[in-house]
Amino acid sequence: MRLIVGITGATGAPVAVKVLEALQVLGVETHLVMSQWGHVTLRTECGETVPDVKALASTVHDARNLAAPMSSGSFKHDGMLVVPCSMKTLASIRIGLSDNLIARAADVTLKERRKLVLAVRETPFNSIHLENMLSLSNLGVTIFPMVPAYYLRPTTMDEANTQMAARLLDQFGLEHPSVRRWEGLRADAGDGNGN
Ligand SMILES: Cc1cc2nc3c(=O)[nH]c(=O)nc-3n(C[C@H](O)[C@H](O)[C@H](O)COP(=O)(O)O)c2cc1C
Repeated sequence: MRLIVGITGATGAPVAVKVLEALQVLGVETHLVMSQWGHVTLRTECGETVPDVKALASTVHDARNLAAPMSSGSFKHDGMLVVPCSMKTLASIRIGLSDNLIARAADVTLKERRKLVLAVRETPFNSIHLENMLSLSNLGVTIFPMVPAYYLRPTTMDEANTQMAARLLDQFGLEHPSVRRWEGLRADAGDGNGN
């Protein structure tokens, strides 16, 4: 399996690291592209250095290099994930701007009718963000808000990040080594009628 992973300058870089770590363990071939602001947020939010994170990918491409393989539909892959996806990159993909390699690769992924997952992150959303997400969703793009599942009772950010990474991998039919799944209500959760 071969996936393209984009990291942009929204907060949430630790989830991208979790995704790359899991993809490496699973033996998935990854092509990583980080935007200029993706580098900044990664440095700001993660203990890992940028070279450490790059080492998790099979191949790293410069976001300014619009001649990279994934700029062309002839480069075959099994899907693309942008994690985290900023509102700027979301907008760029929505209008087909292709202003860097992440937006170009996403544009090509769409034209080739391949799987595209955008782990969007902003709060609150304005109407521009919502319209961009709806428009892309109508084209078949998976809009995946970076929101933790509280029903699993994560006790650390690390745990919540791992769960978000696991749900992202689900989108590609991949099983995260540490995924936890909902198995029904706990005995002490009540019956939904206040009892
Ligand atoms: C620490 C930090 C956190 C940011 N968080 C967000 C965010 O959560 N969502 C977002 O859309 N932009 C966020 N931004 C702004 C983006 O980095 C900015 O819009 C940038 O142009 C995105 O470019 P890119 O998509 O090419 O990486 C953040 C910037 C910084 C420095």
